[in-house]
Amino acid sequence: MKNVMVTGGAGFIGSNFIHHLLKVEPDVQVINLDALTYAGSLENLKDVSDDPRYSFVQGDICDTDFVGGLLRKYQVDTIVHFAAESHVDRSILGPRQFVETNIMGTFSLLDAARTFWLQEKSLPVENVRFHHVSTDEVFGSLALGEPAWTEETPYAPNSPYAASKASSDHLVRSYGHTYGLPFTMTNCSNNYGPYQFPEKLIPLIILNAIDGKRLPVYGDGQQIRDWLHVEDHCDAIHLVLKKGIVGSTYNIGGENQPANLTIVETICEILDEVSMDASHTPHKNLIEFVKDRPGHDRRYDMDTHKISSELGWRPRHTLTGGLLDTVNWYLSHPEWVTAIRQKQEYKGWMDTNYKSR
Ligand code: NAD
Ligand code: DAU
Repeated sequence: MKNVMVTGGAGFIGSNFIHHLLKVEPDVQVINLDALTYAGSLENLKDVSDDPRYSFVQGDICDTDFVGGLLRKYQVDTIVHFAAESHVDRSILGPRQFVETNIMGTFSLLDAARTFWLQEKSLPVENVRFHHVSTDEVFGSLALGEPAWTEETPYAPNSPYAASKASSDHLVRSYGHTYGLPFTMTNCSNNYGPYQFPEKLIPLIILNAIDGKRLPVYGDGQQIRDWLHVEDHCDAIHLVLKKGIVGSTYNIGGENQPANLTIVETICEILDEVSMDASHTPHKNLIEFVKDRPGHDRRYDMDTHKISSELGWRPRHTLTGGLLDTVNWYLSHPEWVTAIRQKQEYKGWMDTNYKSR
């Protein structure tokens, strides 16, 4: 792991991963390839932008020739692939971009890697790795009481987002099986933490609550997700890169499964305590039940026995501590928040998704 290309490194998890990697791998070179869509921001990487081990390249993963040129230029031995369209609600309103980025983009990256690593034999094959970052949503939805998903659970994606991720997972697997491309894959549950774009539940609720805006809870708010602090996710990916078995997939989850409404109420209670502005206290009065997401998955739950027994990984953050840190992070980064709020794509999305709900 000398020259690591991180795709989507300007997004939420990608930027956290770059911070993590530069901290734990002193000799690594990181090449961040990101198209800077609405979800990507160089603000997320301001504090590493002068690090000589870090380079940023703006570009599209769908452009195979361009990606191939970068692999050669930087002699990339490791690709950690985060770049994607990642928001389920957007996939419901506009699925095409999800097919293009998540399926065609992954295909394009895989093909560039196959050419550079396997056909041109540019580097010893035992030294290269394609790590694909996927999601628990490929497994569908669980009823209450059903057992958690394992790595062997058949795929049953429900949203266009989940279907596009499932499709990309299959492509990765097929490149391993057919061409011998050395890959690892992780399927992870819901992340939260610093730098998350405020279209996702936790940062959306934090920022709306700070502003005294309504807190939209879809349906009855009893849907269940398996929340994981983003630093625990980054730690798990790093461990899989170091010790994971080539050709394997690993589930990652947070062992935290409160209902959405509980998450929202907890954020309200934290803000009641820590916010200097008391004008919206108690914040829970801002909660509003709104029209549900079409096809809304009811419950997710990841069985993480494989990664904990094979690689010794366990999440370190508790949900209570992680949520408190996250609320404090958003409160103490007003410039980051203002920069996002000024983006037309953010304002437009808030109107498109919430006005008629
Ligand atoms: P994000 O939306 O915050 O960031 C995505 C990044 O990809 C952005 O920086 C964007 O500019 C970039 N990008 C999009 N299209 C691109 C293209 N064509 N070429 C290059 N860059 C492009 O996403 P995230 O929440 O950080 O998720 C990262 C990955 O992790 C995704 O693959 C997602 O499916 C997966 N994942 C996310 C979660 C979660 O809870 N957020 C959980 C499990 C898995
Ligand atoms: O499970 C992993 C997935 O988690 C990732 O693969 C996705 O990239 C990521 O976006 C996330 O998907 P979700 O759809 O679970 O996350 P989101 O934050 O959009 O929603 C979390 C839950 O909160 C979900 O049940 C829908 C609900 N919700 C969401 C929003 C935005 C609301 O009730 N109100 C809202 O306004």
